[in-house]
Amino acid sequence: MKVPDAWSSPAALDVQEEMCMVDFLEARSASPDQMALNKRLVDLLAPAAGAQLLDVGCGSGFLCRLLASAAQSLGGHVWGIDIAPHFIAAARRCAAQAGLSPWITFEVGNAQALPYVDGRFDGVVAARLLLHVPDPVRVVREARRVVRPGGRIVLMDWDFGTVAVDHPDRALTRRILQWRTDHRGGDNWSGRQLWGRALRAGLRDARLVPVVSVSHEEESSLAQSLWRAARGAWEAGVIGRAEGEAWIDTLRQQIGQGTFCASIVYFVVCGRS
Ligand SMILES: C[S@@+](CC[C@H](N)C(=O)[O-])C[C@H]1O[C@@H](n2cnc3c(N)ncnc32)[C@H](O)[C@@H]1O
Repeated sequence: MKVPDAWSSPAALDVQEEMCMVDFLEARSASPDQMALNKRLVDLLAPAAGAQLLDVGCGSGFLCRLLASAAQSLGGHVWGIDIAPHFIAAARRCAAQAGLSPWITFEVGNAQALPYVDGRFDGVVAARLLLHVPDPVRVVREARRVVRPGGRIVLMDWDFGTVAVDHPDRALTRRILQWRTDHRGGDNWSGRQLWGRALRAGLRDARLVPVVSVSHEEESSLAQSLWRAARGAWEAGVIGRAEGEAWIDTLRQQIGQGTFCASIVYFVVCGRS
């Protein structure tokens, strides 16, 4: 059975769960692999002087803050939109703490029906969003609509089905990874589906930039994600708790010895409206 996807139905959460998700997003964004990836997204969006930029499904606004740091010196402005009011409230708080409020406007709204006129922005980014929406092609069409002709669109989704981990117990590793891919919330093949979706939505000059992220350390978001995958698998009864804990221990030992090696492919599709 698929675990309900808290990212696609955030309205159903209580306040404590909401705060946990905000903390999770902020901690994940600060991990070395996600920092590198987010910087790459900013480079691909390539904001020009005066750029008006939109981050769709902005969560706690980490990417908005990165974009605002660039926009600040370029005389531009960043908008962040998210369906969850608690993420927007947290995003405003974080931007204020970072002294970036003058360069970012946060709004509650649905990516499937963006509340902006056609051609409003010079560039749009949507990261880790499409795997959580009911109609991803519609979201890409909306992103196209609100970008001026020729403006840039950068889409990114991860794909848990591409995760590789060096672990001596291959059968157990396959069970954990497959369970995580097929049963955790969200569409975990969304990364590989991004290209087809972008083309179906009419993205022009589209190109696929695969970002392969290799992790050797515990602080990486991928290592943390593996620990959660093992826990989820034992909580779902797919593996035993003892074998799940032993699986994590083995990987932690590898981290201690410097031999831990895990990777994932992030699919980035860039194009124009
Ligand atoms: C996994 S989080 C990613 C947040 C942020 N983009 C990041 O990369 O850290 C997915 C975000 O999409 C938002 N979301 C889900 N469905 C949405 C929709 N239909 N419209 C706008 N935002 C949506 C969620 O509230 C959540 O903040």
